[in-house]
Amino acid sequence: MELSQRIKNITPSQTLAITAKSRDLKAQGVDVISLSAGEPDFNTPDEIIEKTYEALKAGQTKYTSASGITELKEAIIEKMKRDNGLDYELSEVFVGTGAKHVLYNLFQATLDPGDEVLIPTPYWVSYTEQVKLAEGNPVIMETDESTSFKITPEIIDRHVTDRTRMLLLNSPSNPSGMVYTEEELRSLAEYLEKTDIVVVADEIYETLVYDHPHISIASFSDKMKSNTLIVNGVSKSHSMTGWRIGYVCGDSDVVKGMTALSSHSTSNPATPSQWAALAAYNMDPSYLEEYNRTFKERRDKAYENLMEIPYIDCIKPEGAFYLFPNFAECARQCGFDGVDAFVEAVLEEVHVAAVPGSGFGSPDNIRLSYSLSIEDMTEALDRIRKFVEQHSKGV
Ligand SMILES: Cc1ncc(COP(=O)(O)O)c(C=O)c1O
Repeated sequence: MELSQRIKNITPSQTLAITAKSRDLKAQGVDVISLSAGEPDFNTPDEIIEKTYEALKAGQTKYTSASGITELKEAIIEKMKRDNGLDYELSEVFVGTGAKHVLYNLFQATLDPGDEVLIPTPYWVSYTEQVKLAEGNPVIMETDESTSFKITPEIIDRHVTDRTRMLLLNSPSNPSGMVYTEEELRSLAEYLEKTDIVVVADEIYETLVYDHPHISIASFSDKMKSNTLIVNGVSKSHSMTGWRIGYVCGDSDVVKGMTALSSHSTSNPATPSQWAALAAYNMDPSYLEEYNRTFKERRDKAYENLMEIPYIDCIKPEGAFYLFPNFAECARQCGFDGVDAFVEAVLEEVHVAAVPGSGFGSPDNIRLSYSLSIEDMTEALDRIRKFVEQHSKGV
C-alpha cells in the first residue's frame, strides 16, 4: 500500500535497527556482545515495582488527565526546584509517554511549516525526524572533537536566519557523552537572551554526570527560563525505559497545546507508569548516587581500553553512558570504505554490535555504549582491538 509523503521523508531509527540485528544474531546462538544499548542494563528498582503494584491494587487503573496526574506533576515540580533551582506551576508541566513522545508533541505543538530548528551534531537520531514530521526544517550545526562536540555563540550565530525558531541542546549528550560546563552554558545563555530563540533542553541524562555537575541553561535568568522548554524523564535516571514516562517543564501555552494534541492521540501516559514514576521521585536519592558510581567506573575502564585501539581519537566523555570515538582513520587503515562498513564487518567477524555515527550526523564516529558489565565491555573492546590489528596489517 502507498505510504504518505510524510512517512517516506523520515529515516527509521538506526539505533533500534542495530539492536534488532544483534538480537537476531544472538537468537541464532552467536556470542554477540552488544555495545549498542541505549538504556541502563539494571532492572527498575524493586521499590518502584512494589509501589506500582500497590497503586494498581488500590485502583489506579483508569484514565487520568491527558497531561498526567497531579501527584506526579507535583513531584516533578519538587525535583526541578531541588535539583535545578527552577520553580514551575502545575500548568507548566506536561507528562507524556516517554521523553521521545514529549519531544514529538512539543515540535507538533510549536512549529509551523518552514520553521527552522538548530540541531548540533552529533544529535540524537529522533530530533531531525521529529522536526521534519512537524514540517519544520532541521538546520544542522556541525561539531567535532576539536570543540569536544560543543557549540558556541559564534557557531549558533552563523546558522541563525529570520526563520530560526528553536535550538536543541542535549547535555549530557547522546551520543557524544559531552557535558557543557557552567561557563560554556553561561556564554550560550548570554547570546540566546538577546534573541527569541526557544531552547529545547533535553536533560534526560542529567543524573549521569561524572566530572562536573549538570546545570540547566534555564537557570541563568528569568528570560532564559521563559524561553526554555526542559525535557526530562525517568527512563535513564531510574532504569525505567519500558515504563514510558517523560515530561516537559516550561511555557504554559505550549503545555496546553501539547495536552490538546495528546487528548486526541495517546490520551494520558499509562496510569500505572505514572504511579511508578512518582515512586521513583519519592525514592531515597542515594540510589542515584550508587548508580552514578557504577557508570563512572565503567566509563573510566571503557575509555582506558578504548584508547588501546590504534588509529582512533576520542574525547573523554563526562556524562551519559556512551563513548563516541572517531574511527575514520582506523577504518581507512583497515581497508574499509568508511566507518559504516567497518561497523558491519566488526559485527559479522568478531560479533560486537555498535552504532555507526552516520545516524547521528557524524559519519566518522561510532557510538559505543558502556551500559553493560565491565567484563563484557572489556571483552568487546578487546575483540575490536584485535580486529583492527589484524585488518590493518596488510594495508
Ligand atoms: C537524548 C535522548 N533524548 C530522549 C530520549 C527518549 O527517552 P525516552 O525513553 O524517555 O522516550 C532518549 C532515549 O534514548 C535520548 O537518548
